[in-house]
Amino acid sequence: MNVLEARNLKILFRSEEGFVRAVEGVDITVGEGEKVAIVGESGCGKSVTSLACMKLLNTPPAYVAADKFCFISRDGTVHNLLEKTENEMLALRAEEMAMIFQDPSSFLNPVMTIGQQLDEIFIYHRQMRPKEARARSIEMMKRVGIPDPEMRAKQYPHELSGGLKQRILIAMATSLSPRLLIADEPTTALDVTIQAQILGLIRERCEHEKMALLMITHDLGVVREMADRVYVMYCGKIVEQGRVDEILKSPKHPYTKALIDTIPDLDEKVDRFVQIPHNVPHPMHKPAGCYFSNRCSYCTQLCRKQMPPLFDRGEGRKVRCYYDTEALWEKSF
Ligand SMILES: Nc1ncnc2c1ncn2[C@@H]1O[C@H](COP(=O)(O)OP(=O)(O)O)[C@@H](O)[C@H]1O
Ligand SMILES: [Mg+2]
Repeated sequence: MNVLEARNLKILFRSEEGFVRAVEGVDITVGEGEKVAIVGESGCGKSVTSLACMKLLNTPPAYVAADKFCFISRDGTVHNLLEKTENEMLALRAEEMAMIFQDPSSFLNPVMTIGQQLDEIFIYHRQMRPKEARARSIEMMKRVGIPDPEMRAKQYPHELSGGLKQRILIAMATSLSPRLLIADEPTTALDVTIQAQILGLIRERCEHEKMALLMITHDLGVVREMADRVYVMYCGKIVEQGRVDEILKSPKHPYTKALIDTIPDLDEKVDRFVQIPHNVPHPMHKPAGCYFSNRCSYCTQLCRKQMPPLFDRGEGRKVRCYYDTEALWEKSF
């Protein structure tokens, strides 16, 4: 059973210069307890996709359309996300779908203690009395590895480090065992040493609560650690999708290959930072044909003229490229 299904999802923004097509018809599914990632460089449409799943985009300026866009809850009820009211979403967001963001500070209330913010969840959603709620909050804080939780519960967000704040957000997001956790670049703002711990914690929480995970990241290294299946997104379109191990072993789209080359190799002694030439095009000036054509070393006239379809390569693998790029790479050596 799926928890999330998006078919032909489109997200537009109306700006002064015209329409920005941020997401151009993507199909995404997340199965029960499945760990899925969306990867791509900045500006590819990952965050707006995840916000649309939570119905957290302001409409307008955003416009969201889809042939199908639904969340399926535990009892099998299919919720059409396009038609849900804000009140209905409030209930769904607390109980069944939760999200953690890159910047935990913006999510925490600066004038409430950490304990009060956690307590509220149990008081409001589980009708607990304050004392009982605090006991649960302390238990949750222990579960996400916060040392001395009784003391921390009395502190305000600014008294905690970025890593501890992200742990609190993970505690808040997972406290009611939602069916789906969406994590949008949750470690990008943290120190490298803390990043691995936080990723480990998210994985542990998902497995323990049997939650599905939709991990949003620009880093294929994070995808390798966190997901079983991945969608590679470029300029608002899926360019490749499939099992993470298969894609890392044999990427078929030149963009995926370029992203793999940017993963820092842990064994390598020398510092290496590979960049993909040129930038992601501005969404109002995407090239004709394949959107990656102006950055692709295998690009041909056909690629510049016509957008390739998402070819089905079997066994869940799909690739938006006219060529069998593996063969092309072999030839180029
Ligand atoms: N409020 C907005 N108004 C206009 N354009 C927006 C808005 N939010 C996002 N966009 C555009 O949507 C595109 C995708 O953005 P985003 O999802 O944040 O990318 P990513 O998370 O992959 O870095 C970007 O080109 C961005 O400029
Ligand atoms: Mg983003």
